[in-house]
Amino acid sequence: MPKHIADQKNKPKVKISEFLFGAALSAHQVEGNNIHSDWWKFEQEVLSKKGISSDVATNHYELYEEDFALAKKIGHNSHRVSIEWAKVEPEKGKIDFTVIEHYKKVLATLKANDLKPVVTLLHFTMPQWFAKRGGFLYKKNIKTFVEYAKFLVQELKSDLEFVITINEPVVYAYQSYLTGTWTPQKKKFRLYKKILKNLAKTHNQLYHELKHVSPSLKISIAKNNQVFEPSRRHNLLDNILAQYFRYTWNYQFLDRIKHSIDFIGLNYYFYRGVKFKRALAKNFYQFPYPTCRKSDMDWEVFPKGIYINIMDLHKRYKLPIIVTENGVADDTDKLRESFLKESLEWVFKAKKEGANVFGYLHWALTDNFEWDHGFDPRFGLIKIDYNNLSRSVRPSALVYQKLIEKYQNQLKSEQKDKQ
Ligand code: BGC
Repeated sequence: MPKHIADQKNKPKVKISEFLFGAALSAHQVEGNNIHSDWWKFEQEVLSKKGISSDVATNHYELYEEDFALAKKIGHNSHRVSIEWAKVEPEKGKIDFTVIEHYKKVLATLKANDLKPVVTLLHFTMPQWFAKRGGFLYKKNIKTFVEYAKFLVQELKSDLEFVITINEPVVYAYQSYLTGTWTPQKKKFRLYKKILKNLAKTHNQLYHELKHVSPSLKISIAKNNQVFEPSRRHNLLDNILAQYFRYTWNYQFLDRIKHSIDFIGLNYYFYRGVKFKRALAKNFYQFPYPTCRKSDMDWEVFPKGIYINIMDLHKRYKLPIIVTENGVADDTDKLRESFLKESLEWVFKAKKEGANVFGYLHWALTDNFEWDHGFDPRFGLIKIDYNNLSRSVRPSALVYQKLIEKYQNQLKSEQKDKQ
């Protein structure tokens, strides 16, 4: 029997007694002083010219206890964090054990606050020494990351259950190797394809290796999936194009790793109306936005898309699903409230219709460093005052808290009815 089929059969069932409600963060975006990472270098050399640098970020590295206590206070029972490889292994082969101790405390603090951790191993950033060797562009480098991840999981395994190996591999490949917006600023389709293949390989290897370290782990990736719809409903070319994007953006990567995931982590942000444009030979498509609500980043706000994506994933892969990210940049906090309300309605509709959704983690717990956009976009349920790094709970966070209570009660009574 092929190995992946045998593994498939031995997979632990993702059985969660409690629906996970919470929020997410990633290390580089909040911890601060990620000085050994490729992103830090990129900020110093490139982004700082536009006044963008992550600097101390929200100083979450020191203030994580306060942040987690707030998450508990606003009703969360789960939280997604990432572990910063560049801090754990700032120089090749040299592990900083004070950092390992730090992350042990982070996980223990989550536990003490009754927040079930969902832990990401790679959220867009890596050590400078690894990036210098070409990062994931070279197959020979995959082993280096796999060895590091095995070591890390060995150290932390008593507090791990849900592991996300790689955050949004397609977004990373797209931004870093196709549009060149992110480090290492490459713009080559060939490299984009190559990096995607290597990231899939990395995940597949990691899945098997990490299961040896800790068989009870539930492992997946966080996949950014989008809604692609034909701009002109009855236009054949628009329809073909929408299908093409659905496959290449949403499914191709998942198809490559579908035998080595226990569940699917879904990050949902984007709606795209796809229009075929004959005039442009090279860029034969465009993404026109229909007029509907927009976030501060000018991204279209389309909560129903979460339902569309969950149902598509459910039908195609028949695996449990957790929303690992979903949110809006909304400084005034005017949109977030209805966004949360509508998004959760759609998530629970999908659940009612048979999708095995077991959690919703909002992006983000606090405001944070939004990559090449700096600190301006405000995604947090908790507001950060960057003058003094004080935290204050936004009104929408309290609305989310009420929604959590409502859905928890609903789930409990459904449970009772079943008994
Ligand atoms: C990423 C986050 C990012 C968020 C909002 C996701 O693509 O995982 O790091 O902050 O979207 O842009």
